[in-house]
Amino acid sequence: MKLLLLLLFLYAVTAKRVELDWNLQYKNVNADGLFERRVISINNEWPPLPVELNVNDILVIHLQNNLNEVTVIHAHGINQNNGTNHMDGAGMVTQCPIPANHNFTYEFPVTQAGTFWIHSHYKVQYMDGLRVPLVVRDIHEPFHWDEDQIISLSDWYHQDSYTNLEQYMNHDNIEGVEPIPQSGLINDHVNSTISFKPNKTYRLRFLNMAGIATFNVYLDGHDMQVIEVDGIPTQPTRTGLIYLAAGQRVSVLVKTKSTTDLNYILHANMNPAMFDYIPDGLKLSK
Ligand SMILES: *[C@@H]1O[C@H](CO)[C@@H](O)[C@H](O)[C@H]1NC(C)=O
Ligand SMILES: *[C@@H]1O[C@H](CO)[C@@H](O)[C@H](O)[C@H]1NC(C)=O
Ligand SMILES: *[C@@H]1O[C@H](CO)[C@@H](O)[C@H](O)[C@H]1NC(C)=O
Ligand SMILES: *[C@@H]1O[C@H](CO)[C@@H](O)[C@H](O)[C@H]1NC(C)=O
Repeated sequence: MKLLLLLLFLYAVTAKRVELDWNLQYKNVNADGLFERRVISINNEWPPLPVELNVNDILVIHLQNNLNEVTVIHAHGINQNNGTNHMDGAGMVTQCPIPANHNFTYEFPVTQAGTFWIHSHYKVQYMDGLRVPLVVRDIHEPFHWDEDQIISLSDWYHQDSYTNLEQYMNHDNIEGVEPIPQSGLINDHVNSTISFKPNKTYRLRFLNMAGIATFNVYLDGHDMQVIEVDGIPTQPTRTGLIYLAAGQRVSVLVKTKSTTDLNYILHANMNPAMFDYIPDGLKLSK
């Protein structure tokens, strides 16, 4: 009984308020090396830093909208079902969007562990770069790994999201052809490299932050063991390939080899099935 109380006490003191100041402003970046475009940065950084919490932390984001458009942010996959519905950040559903040059503070407890993301929930604004991984760790998760690695996948458009939306929601577009991205990104880059140490078990947290693209993910020479789907722990399941649609997250365990004499390619290939046509020059894979 004493031990249980002590454990409960330790558990309670580890829960904390994680306060972030997010100043949204524009920045020009060239994510795919093909075209420089304006994105929405957080504190003048793009890609923005992932948000990392422990389960039961209270997430507080002081948002300053220094854009010349409205915005809202939504923690994708996080339940807001215990008195925090107004913190869900779905524009025109649970809150009015935050006007330009205004502030808003999001505050809610995060009681689910796993891999999530935070993104703009105003029209298609997150495709202008306002999306960021959210990882919630829980020491009680029933799996063991040595190191943890976030691997975000996204599609990348050269045009801003308003131009794409205008092209899509248009009576000339009677077939409903979705705009097709110009590039696919891994960790917000076309040439990402990830370092692994030998003889270790890694938890790879794949998340698809794309607007439309689905990805086929596999790692040369390695099996993956799925342990999480969309924030829910799973029965560990071996697979060679993961198929991730926009918004989905999957964690896998991967055991690295005992030698370091070879590098292995991590493939995240955009699946052409989602595109009405494949434009010249679009690379679905590297
Ligand atoms: C990615 O790598 C290719 C081949 O090495 C290179 O041509 C290209 O400039 C690189 N792109 C970026 C954005 O670094
Ligand atoms: C709901 O939130 C209150 C604090 O606002 C907390 O005391 C209670 O345990 C929560 N209930 C559940 C089911 O999480
Ligand atoms: C928004 O927050 C910043 C930083 O705290 C402050 O300087 C600014 O005056 C606030 N703006 C408004 C409109 O309240
Ligand atoms: C990995 O472990 C194997 C077996 O324990 C060992 O022989 C090998 O030297 C280790 N490799 C490295 C790079 O530490």
